[in-house]
Amino acid sequence: MDTVAAETFDLRALPQSFYDDPHPTYQRLRETSPVHRLPDGSLFLTRWADLDRVYRDTTTFSSDKFSEFGPKYGDTPLFDHHTTSLVFNDPPLHTRVRRLIAGALTPRAIALMEPGLLALVDRLLDAMAAKGHADLIEDFAAAIPVEVIGNLLGVPVSERGPLRAWSLAILGALEPVPTPTQHAAGNAAVTDFLAYLRDLVSRRRAAPGDPEQDVLTRLIAGEADGAKLSEKELLHNVIFLLNAGHETTTNLIGNGLACLLDHPDQKARLLHDPALIGTAVEEFLRYESSNQLGNRRVAIDTEVGGIEAPAGTLITLCIGAANRDPAQFKNPEALDIGRRPNRHLAFGAGAHVCAGLALARLEGRIAIGRFLARFPRYRLAAPPTRGGRARFRGYLALPVTLA
Ligand code: HEM
Repeated sequence: MDTVAAETFDLRALPQSFYDDPHPTYQRLRETSPVHRLPDGSLFLTRWADLDRVYRDTTTFSSDKFSEFGPKYGDTPLFDHHTTSLVFNDPPLHTRVRRLIAGALTPRAIALMEPGLLALVDRLLDAMAAKGHADLIEDFAAAIPVEVIGNLLGVPVSERGPLRAWSLAILGALEPVPTPTQHAAGNAAVTDFLAYLRDLVSRRRAAPGDPEQDVLTRLIAGEADGAKLSEKELLHNVIFLLNAGHETTTNLIGNGLACLLDHPDQKARLLHDPALIGTAVEEFLRYESSNQLGNRRVAIDTEVGGIEAPAGTLITLCIGAANRDPAQFKNPEALDIGRRPNRHLAFGAGAHVCAGLALARLEGRIAIGRFLARFPRYRLAAPPTRGGRARFRGYLALPVTLA
Protein backbone atom coordinates (compact mmCIF):
# COMPACT_ATOMS: atom_id res chain seq x y z
CA MET A 1 0.00 0.00 0.00
CA ASP A 2 1.52 3.38 -0.93
CA THR A 3 1.45 6.62 1.05
CA VAL A 4 -1.39 8.16 -0.93
CA ALA A 5 -3.55 5.12 -0.28
CA ALA A 6 -2.72 5.38 3.45
CA GLU A 7 -3.82 9.01 3.47
CA THR A 8 -7.15 8.11 1.90
CA PHE A 9 -7.64 5.13 4.23
CA ASP A 10 -11.32 4.70 5.11
CA LEU A 11 -12.50 2.12 7.63
CA ARG A 12 -15.89 2.13 5.89
CA ALA A 13 -14.47 1.08 2.53
CA LEU A 14 -11.71 -1.46 3.00
CA PRO A 15 -10.18 -3.39 0.09
CA GLN A 16 -9.93 -7.19 0.24
CA SER A 17 -6.14 -6.90 0.65
CA PHE A 18 -6.74 -5.24 4.03
CA TYR A 19 -8.72 -8.20 5.32
CA ASP A 20 -6.00 -10.57 4.07
CA ASP A 21 -3.22 -8.63 5.81
CA PRO A 22 -3.90 -5.25 7.46
CA HIS A 23 -0.35 -4.81 8.77
CA PRO A 24 1.20 -3.00 5.78
CA THR A 25 -1.66 -0.47 5.98
CA TYR A 26 -1.24 -0.11 9.74
CA GLN A 27 2.50 0.45 9.33
CA ARG A 28 2.04 3.14 6.69
CA LEU A 29 -0.62 4.90 8.78
CA ARG A 30 1.58 4.80 11.88
CA GLU A 31 4.45 6.30 9.92
CA THR A 32 2.61 8.94 7.90
CA SER A 33 -0.69 9.70 9.67
CA PRO A 34 -0.71 8.19 13.18
CA VAL A 35 -3.75 10.24 14.26
CA HIS A 36 -5.67 9.82 11.06
CA ARG A 37 -8.86 11.74 10.27
CA LEU A 38 -11.34 9.42 8.54
CA PRO A 39 -13.84 10.86 6.01
CA ASP A 40 -16.63 10.72 8.63
CA GLY A 41 -14.62 13.04 10.92
CA SER A 42 -13.60 10.36 13.44
CA LEU A 43 -9.97 9.63 14.36
CA PHE A 44 -8.07 6.39 13.76
CA LEU A 45 -5.09 5.89 16.11
CA THR A 46 -2.18 3.54 15.43
CA ARG A 47 0.57 4.47 17.95
CA TRP A 48 0.99 2.43 21.13
CA ALA A 49 1.48 5.51 23.36
CA ASP A 50 -1.70 7.19 22.06
CA LEU A 51 -3.77 4.05 22.65
CA ASP A 52 -2.33 3.56 26.13
CA ARG A 53 -3.21 7.14 27.05
CA VAL A 54 -6.76 6.93 25.69
CA TYR A 55 -7.46 3.58 27.37
CA ARG A 56 -6.27 4.88 30.75
CA ASP A 57 -7.99 8.29 30.71
CA THR A 58 -11.62 7.33 31.23
CA THR A 59 -12.63 10.88 32.12
CA THR A 60 -11.64 12.38 28.77
CA PHE A 61 -12.48 9.31 26.69
CA SER A 62 -15.88 7.71 27.27
CA SER A 63 -16.96 4.13 26.51
CA ASP A 64 -20.67 5.04 26.50
CA LYS A 65 -22.18 4.20 23.09
CA PHE A 66 -25.67 5.65 23.50
CA SER A 67 -25.28 8.54 21.05
CA GLU A 68 -23.16 6.58 18.53
CA PHE A 69 -25.29 3.43 18.40
CA GLY A 70 -28.64 5.27 18.13
CA PRO A 71 -28.17 6.06 14.43
CA LYS A 72 -26.26 2.82 13.80
CA TYR A 73 -28.86 0.36 15.16
CA GLY A 74 -32.10 2.36 15.62
CA ASP A 75 -34.60 1.17 18.23
CA THR A 76 -33.59 -2.51 18.07
CA PRO A 77 -32.54 -5.40 20.32
CA LEU A 78 -28.91 -4.78 19.24
CA PHE A 79 -29.13 -1.18 20.50
CA ASP A 80 -30.57 -2.31 23.83
CA HIS A 81 -27.93 -4.99 24.15
CA HIS A 82 -24.84 -2.95 23.43
CA THR A 83 -25.88 0.11 25.41
CA THR A 84 -26.50 -2.05 28.49
CA SER A 85 -23.22 -4.06 28.34
CA LEU A 86 -20.53 -3.03 30.82
CA VAL A 87 -17.93 -2.64 28.10
CA PHE A 88 -19.95 0.09 26.42
CA ASN A 89 -20.75 2.02 29.61
CA ASP A 90 -19.06 4.41 32.00
CA PRO A 91 -19.58 4.44 35.78
CA PRO A 92 -21.89 3.84 37.58
CA LEU A 93 -23.24 0.87 35.54
CA HIS A 94 -19.75 -0.17 34.48
CA THR A 95 -18.45 -0.22 38.05
CA ARG A 96 -21.38 -2.22 39.41
CA VAL A 97 -21.25 -4.94 36.77
CA ARG A 98 -17.45 -5.08 36.62
CA ARG A 99 -17.20 -5.69 40.37
CA LEU A 100 -19.61 -8.60 40.17
CA ILE A 101 -17.90 -10.20 37.17
CA ALA A 102 -14.35 -9.64 38.43
CA GLY A 103 -15.30 -11.19 41.76
CA ALA A 104 -16.15 -14.40 39.94
CA LEU A 105 -12.99 -14.49 37.79
CA THR A 106 -10.44 -14.48 40.61
CA PRO A 107 -7.17 -16.45 40.28
CA ARG A 108 -8.64 -19.01 42.69
CA ALA A 109 -11.80 -19.49 40.61
CA ILE A 110 -9.73 -19.81 37.45
CA ALA A 111 -7.36 -22.34 39.02
CA LEU A 112 -10.42 -24.46 39.82
CA MET A 113 -11.27 -24.55 36.12
CA GLU A 114 -7.91 -25.96 35.06
CA PRO A 115 -8.57 -29.72 35.54
CA GLY A 116 -11.80 -29.54 33.51
CA LEU A 117 -10.05 -27.56 30.79
CA LEU A 118 -7.21 -30.12 30.55
CA ALA A 119 -9.72 -32.94 30.26
CA LEU A 120 -11.70 -31.10 27.56
CA VAL A 121 -8.58 -30.32 25.50
CA ASP A 122 -7.37 -33.91 25.74
CA ARG A 123 -10.77 -35.21 24.63
CA LEU A 124 -10.63 -32.96 21.56
CA LEU A 125 -7.04 -34.06 20.81
CA ASP A 126 -8.09 -37.73 21.03
CA ALA A 127 -10.99 -37.14 18.64
CA MET A 128 -8.69 -35.43 16.11
CA ALA A 129 -6.07 -38.18 16.45
CA ALA A 130 -8.74 -40.75 15.60
CA LYS A 131 -9.51 -38.88 12.35
CA GLY A 132 -5.87 -38.15 11.41
CA HIS A 133 -6.78 -34.70 10.12
CA ALA A 134 -8.69 -31.73 11.49
CA ASP A 135 -10.05 -28.28 10.97
CA LEU A 136 -8.23 -26.51 13.77
CA ILE A 137 -11.05 -24.00 14.15
CA GLU A 138 -14.14 -26.21 14.07
CA ASP A 139 -12.61 -29.25 15.77
CA PHE A 140 -10.46 -27.46 18.31
CA ALA A 141 -10.16 -23.67 18.73
CA ALA A 142 -13.90 -22.94 18.61
CA ALA A 143 -14.85 -25.97 20.69
CA ILE A 144 -12.94 -24.84 23.79
CA PRO A 145 -14.23 -21.36 24.78
CA VAL A 146 -17.89 -22.28 24.39
CA GLU A 147 -17.49 -25.07 26.94
CA VAL A 148 -15.42 -22.93 29.31
CA ILE A 149 -17.92 -20.08 29.32
CA GLY A 150 -20.81 -22.51 29.42
CA ASN A 151 -19.28 -23.96 32.62
CA LEU A 152 -18.66 -20.50 34.03
CA LEU A 153 -22.34 -19.61 33.74
CA GLY A 154 -23.66 -23.09 34.42
CA VAL A 155 -25.33 -23.49 31.01
CA PRO A 156 -26.35 -27.17 30.79
CA VAL A 157 -24.17 -29.03 28.24
CA SER A 158 -27.19 -30.10 26.19
CA GLU A 159 -28.25 -26.43 25.76
CA ARG A 160 -24.95 -25.04 24.44
CA GLY A 161 -25.58 -25.79 20.75
CA PRO A 162 -26.83 -22.34 19.64
CA LEU A 163 -24.40 -20.26 21.74
CA ARG A 164 -21.62 -19.93 19.19
CA ALA A 165 -23.91 -18.90 16.32
CA TRP A 166 -25.69 -16.30 18.50
CA SER A 167 -22.36 -14.93 19.61
CA LEU A 168 -20.95 -14.71 16.06
CA ALA A 169 -24.10 -12.99 14.81
CA ILE A 170 -24.07 -10.35 17.58
CA LEU A 171 -20.36 -9.61 17.14
CA GLY A 172 -20.71 -9.59 13.33
CA ALA A 173 -23.11 -6.65 13.60
CA LEU A 174 -20.34 -4.65 15.32
CA GLU A 175 -18.37 -4.34 12.07
CA PRO A 176 -17.72 -0.70 11.04
CA VAL A 177 -20.49 -0.93 8.40
CA PRO A 178 -22.68 -3.99 9.03
CA THR A 179 -24.64 -5.29 6.04
CA PRO A 180 -28.47 -5.60 6.26
CA THR A 181 -27.98 -9.36 6.65
CA GLN A 182 -25.57 -8.82 9.55
CA HIS A 183 -28.04 -6.41 11.17
CA ALA A 184 -30.93 -8.86 10.86
CA ALA A 185 -28.89 -11.82 12.10
CA GLY A 186 -27.58 -9.77 15.06
CA ASN A 187 -31.07 -8.65 16.11
CA ALA A 188 -32.51 -12.15 15.79
CA ALA A 189 -29.61 -13.52 17.87
CA VAL A 190 -30.16 -10.98 20.69
CA THR A 191 -33.90 -11.80 20.75
CA ASP A 192 -33.36 -15.57 20.84
CA PHE A 193 -30.53 -15.29 23.36
CA LEU A 194 -32.71 -13.17 25.70
CA ALA A 195 -35.56 -15.67 25.52
CA TYR A 196 -33.19 -18.50 26.38
CA LEU A 197 -31.56 -16.59 29.25
CA ARG A 198 -34.88 -15.53 30.80
CA ASP A 199 -35.67 -19.19 31.17
CA LEU A 200 -32.17 -20.09 32.45
CA VAL A 201 -32.25 -17.27 35.00
CA SER A 202 -35.65 -18.33 36.33
CA ARG A 203 -34.36 -21.89 36.73
CA ARG A 204 -31.23 -20.57 38.51
CA ARG A 205 -33.28 -18.38 40.83
CA ALA A 206 -35.20 -21.50 41.84
CA ALA A 207 -31.99 -23.54 42.31
CA PRO A 208 -28.96 -21.26 42.88
CA GLY A 209 -25.41 -22.56 42.30
CA ASP A 210 -22.22 -21.90 44.27
CA PRO A 211 -21.57 -18.14 43.94
CA GLU A 212 -17.81 -18.79 44.30
CA GLN A 213 -17.82 -20.59 40.96
CA ASP A 214 -21.11 -19.87 39.22
CA VAL A 215 -21.03 -16.41 37.70
CA LEU A 216 -24.75 -16.42 36.90
CA THR A 217 -25.69 -17.09 40.52
CA ARG A 218 -23.32 -14.31 41.52
CA LEU A 219 -24.79 -11.83 39.05
CA ILE A 220 -28.34 -12.69 40.14
CA ALA A 221 -27.49 -12.31 43.84
CA GLY A 222 -25.67 -8.99 43.42
CA GLU A 223 -23.32 -7.77 46.08
CA ALA A 224 -23.60 -8.02 49.85
CA ASP A 225 -24.01 -4.24 50.06
CA GLY A 226 -27.18 -4.52 48.02
CA ALA A 227 -25.86 -3.43 44.59
CA LYS A 228 -28.13 -5.49 42.37
CA LEU A 229 -28.56 -5.58 38.59
CA SER A 230 -31.96 -4.99 37.06
CA GLU A 231 -33.36 -7.87 34.98
CA LYS A 232 -32.41 -6.05 31.76
CA GLU A 233 -28.85 -5.34 32.99
CA LEU A 234 -28.46 -8.93 34.13
CA LEU A 235 -29.58 -10.52 30.85
CA HIS A 236 -27.59 -8.25 28.55
CA ASN A 237 -24.40 -8.56 30.59
CA VAL A 238 -24.67 -12.33 30.59
CA ILE A 239 -24.97 -12.20 26.80
CA PHE A 240 -21.93 -9.94 26.71
CA LEU A 241 -19.93 -12.28 28.91
CA LEU A 242 -20.79 -15.23 26.71
CA ASN A 243 -19.70 -13.27 23.63
CA ALA A 244 -16.61 -11.60 25.09
CA GLY A 245 -14.70 -14.75 25.77
CA HIS A 246 -15.83 -16.62 22.73
CA GLU A 247 -14.57 -15.60 19.32
CA THR A 248 -11.61 -13.74 20.87
CA THR A 249 -10.29 -16.89 22.54
CA THR A 250 -11.05 -19.04 19.48
CA ASN A 251 -8.94 -16.60 17.49
CA LEU A 252 -6.10 -16.63 20.01
CA ILE A 253 -5.84 -20.43 19.69
CA GLY A 254 -6.31 -20.48 15.89
CA ASN A 255 -3.99 -17.55 15.23
CA GLY A 256 -1.33 -19.00 17.56
CA LEU A 257 -1.30 -22.37 15.81
CA ALA A 258 -1.28 -20.65 12.39
CA CYS A 259 1.61 -18.36 13.47
CA LEU A 260 3.68 -21.41 14.38
CA LEU A 261 3.06 -22.90 10.92
CA ASP A 262 4.19 -19.64 9.31
CA HIS A 263 7.32 -19.48 11.53
CA PRO A 264 8.90 -22.96 11.64
CA ASP A 265 11.93 -21.66 13.58
CA GLN A 266 9.63 -20.49 16.41
CA LYS A 267 7.69 -23.76 16.29
CA ALA A 268 10.97 -25.71 16.67
CA ARG A 269 11.96 -23.39 19.52
CA LEU A 270 8.71 -24.02 21.41
CA LEU A 271 8.96 -27.78 20.85
CA HIS A 272 12.49 -27.70 22.21
CA ASP A 273 11.52 -25.55 25.21
CA PRO A 274 7.81 -26.00 26.11
CA ALA A 275 8.31 -23.74 29.15
CA LEU A 276 8.18 -20.82 26.68
CA ILE A 277 4.42 -21.33 26.25
CA GLY A 278 3.59 -18.41 28.57
CA THR A 279 5.59 -15.82 26.61
CA ALA A 280 4.54 -17.50 23.33
CA VAL A 281 0.86 -16.87 24.10
CA GLU A 282 1.63 -13.20 24.86
CA GLU A 283 3.46 -12.97 21.55
CA PHE A 284 0.54 -14.48 19.59
CA LEU A 285 -1.73 -11.93 21.27
CA ARG A 286 0.62 -9.13 20.24
CA TYR A 287 1.47 -10.31 16.75
CA GLU A 288 -2.02 -11.30 15.55
CA SER A 289 -4.34 -9.63 18.06
CA SER A 290 -7.75 -11.33 18.16
CA ASN A 291 -9.44 -8.02 18.75
CA GLN A 292 -7.98 -5.47 16.34
CA LEU A 293 -10.11 -2.39 16.99
CA GLY A 294 -11.51 -0.62 20.04
CA ASN A 295 -13.59 2.56 20.32
CA ARG A 296 -14.01 5.60 22.51
CA ARG A 297 -15.85 8.95 22.32
CA VAL A 298 -14.22 12.19 23.43
CA ALA A 299 -16.13 13.49 26.47
CA ILE A 300 -14.12 16.66 27.13
CA ASP A 301 -12.38 18.81 24.44
CA THR A 302 -8.80 17.54 24.06
CA GLU A 303 -6.07 16.85 21.51
CA VAL A 304 -4.42 13.62 20.46
CA GLY A 305 -0.92 13.72 18.97
CA GLY A 306 -1.34 17.44 18.25
CA ILE A 307 -4.70 16.97 16.48
CA GLU A 308 -7.70 18.70 18.01
CA ALA A 309 -10.39 16.36 19.28
CA PRO A 310 -13.47 18.25 20.48
CA ALA A 311 -16.07 16.57 22.71
CA GLY A 312 -18.14 14.15 20.64
CA THR A 313 -15.26 13.04 18.39
CA LEU A 314 -15.35 9.29 17.80
CA ILE A 315 -12.05 7.45 18.08
CA THR A 316 -11.00 4.04 16.78
CA LEU A 317 -8.10 2.49 18.67
CA CYS A 318 -6.16 0.20 16.36
CA ILE A 319 -4.81 -2.46 18.71
CA GLY A 320 -3.32 -4.45 15.81
CA ALA A 321 -1.20 -1.46 14.76
CA ALA A 322 -0.19 -0.38 18.29
CA ASN A 323 1.01 -3.90 18.99
CA ARG A 324 3.58 -3.59 16.20
CA ASP A 325 4.73 -0.06 17.01
CA PRO A 326 8.55 0.09 16.84
CA ALA A 327 8.52 2.86 19.45
CA GLN A 328 7.30 0.23 21.94
CA PHE A 329 8.50 -3.14 20.59
CA LYS A 330 11.98 -4.04 19.38
CA ASN A 331 11.83 -5.59 15.91
CA PRO A 332 8.01 -5.60 16.00
CA GLU A 333 7.43 -7.39 12.69
CA ALA A 334 9.29 -10.48 13.98
CA LEU A 335 7.45 -13.22 15.87
CA ASP A 336 9.59 -13.91 18.95
CA ILE A 337 7.97 -16.43 21.31
CA GLY A 338 10.39 -15.50 24.11
CA ARG A 339 9.78 -11.74 23.82
CA ARG A 340 10.27 -9.80 27.06
CA PRO A 341 9.07 -7.22 27.86
CA ASN A 342 5.86 -7.48 25.90
CA ARG A 343 3.40 -4.77 26.98
CA HIS A 344 0.89 -5.49 24.23
CA LEU A 345 -2.60 -3.98 24.28
CA ALA A 346 -4.48 -7.08 23.08
CA PHE A 347 -6.62 -6.95 26.25
CA GLY A 348 -6.94 -3.15 26.26
CA ALA A 349 -5.79 -1.27 29.38
CA GLY A 350 -7.15 0.81 32.25
CA ALA A 351 -10.57 0.49 33.89
CA HIS A 352 -12.07 -1.62 31.07
CA VAL A 353 -9.08 -3.96 30.66
CA CYS A 354 -10.34 -7.43 29.77
CA ALA A 355 -11.92 -8.99 32.85
CA GLY A 356 -11.30 -12.48 31.45
CA LEU A 357 -7.64 -12.13 30.55
CA ALA A 358 -6.36 -14.68 33.06
CA LEU A 359 -8.87 -17.22 31.78
CA ALA A 360 -8.04 -16.46 28.13
CA ARG A 361 -4.32 -16.88 28.84
CA LEU A 362 -4.94 -20.20 30.58
CA GLU A 363 -7.03 -21.46 27.66
CA GLY A 364 -4.35 -20.33 25.19
CA ARG A 365 -1.50 -21.96 27.10
CA ILE A 366 -3.25 -25.28 27.60
CA ALA A 367 -4.76 -25.54 24.11
CA ILE A 368 -1.70 -24.49 22.11
CA GLY A 369 0.85 -26.19 24.39
CA ARG A 370 -0.92 -29.55 24.47
CA PHE A 371 -1.76 -29.50 20.77
CA LEU A 372 1.87 -28.94 19.83
CA ALA A 373 3.13 -31.63 22.21
CA ARG A 374 0.65 -34.13 20.76
CA PHE A 375 0.95 -33.24 17.06
CA PRO A 376 4.43 -31.70 16.56
CA ARG A 377 4.37 -32.38 12.80
CA TYR A 378 0.98 -30.80 12.01
CA ARG A 379 0.86 -28.96 8.68
CA LEU A 380 -1.65 -27.26 6.40
CA ALA A 381 -3.76 -29.63 4.31
CA ALA A 382 -5.41 -26.86 2.25
CA PRO A 383 -5.29 -23.06 2.21
CA PRO A 384 -6.90 -21.60 5.35
CA THR A 385 -10.00 -19.38 5.20
CA ARG A 386 -9.74 -15.98 6.90
CA GLY A 387 -12.66 -14.60 8.93
CA GLY A 388 -13.01 -11.54 6.70
CA ARG A 389 -13.63 -9.10 9.56
CA ALA A 390 -11.81 -5.88 10.41
CA ARG A 391 -12.56 -5.92 14.14
CA PHE A 392 -11.98 -9.58 14.97
CA ARG A 393 -8.98 -11.20 13.31
CA GLY A 394 -8.99 -14.95 12.93
CA TYR A 395 -9.74 -17.91 10.68
CA LEU A 396 -12.99 -19.57 9.74
CA ALA A 397 -11.20 -22.75 8.70
CA LEU A 398 -7.66 -24.04 9.21
CA PRO A 399 -7.45 -27.54 7.70
CA VAL A 400 -4.40 -29.57 8.79
CA THR A 401 -2.97 -33.05 8.68
CA LEU A 402 -1.67 -34.20 12.04
CA ALA A 403 0.98 -36.89 11.49
C1 HEM B 1 -7.90 -13.84 23.74
C2 HEM B 1 -9.05 -13.60 24.31
C3 HEM B 1 -9.57 -12.24 24.64
C4 HEM B 1 -9.25 -11.01 24.12
C5 HEM B 1 -8.21 -10.70 23.04
C6 HEM B 1 -10.06 -10.03 24.81
C7 HEM B 1 -10.00 -8.66 24.57
C8 HEM B 1 -10.67 -7.72 25.30
C9 HEM B 1 -10.51 -6.29 25.15
C10 HEM B 1 -9.58 -5.59 24.15
C11 HEM B 1 -11.33 -5.68 26.05
C12 HEM B 1 -11.44 -4.19 26.34
C13 HEM B 1 -12.51 -3.49 25.55
C14 HEM B 1 -12.48 -1.98 25.73
O1 HEM B 1 -11.93 -1.44 26.69
O2 HEM B 1 -12.99 -1.30 24.84
C15 HEM B 1 -12.04 -6.74 26.74
C16 HEM B 1 -13.01 -6.52 27.70
C17 HEM B 1 -13.67 -7.55 28.35
N1 HEM B 1 -13.45 -8.90 28.25
FE1 HEM B 1 -12.08 -9.79 27.08
N2 HEM B 1 -10.87 -10.69 25.71
C18 HEM B 1 -10.60 -12.03 25.65
C19 HEM B 1 -11.20 -13.03 26.40
C20 HEM B 1 -12.15 -12.85 27.38
C21 HEM B 1 -12.73 -13.88 28.19
C22 HEM B 1 -12.34 -15.36 28.15
C23 HEM B 1 -13.66 -13.28 28.99
C24 HEM B 1 -14.60 -13.85 30.05
C25 HEM B 1 -14.82 -15.05 30.29
C26 HEM B 1 -13.64 -11.87 28.69
C27 HEM B 1 -14.42 -10.92 29.30
C28 HEM B 1 -14.31 -9.55 29.11
C29 HEM B 1 -15.12 -8.58 29.81
C30 HEM B 1 -16.20 -8.88 30.86
C31 HEM B 1 -14.73 -7.31 29.32
C32 HEM B 1 -15.33 -5.97 29.70
C33 HEM B 1 -14.50 -5.33 30.76
C34 HEM B 1 -14.97 -3.93 31.11
O3 HEM B 1 -15.61 -3.24 30.30
O4 HEM B 1 -14.67 -3.53 32.24
N3 HEM B 1 -12.71 -11.63 27.69
N4 HEM B 1 -11.61 -7.97 26.30
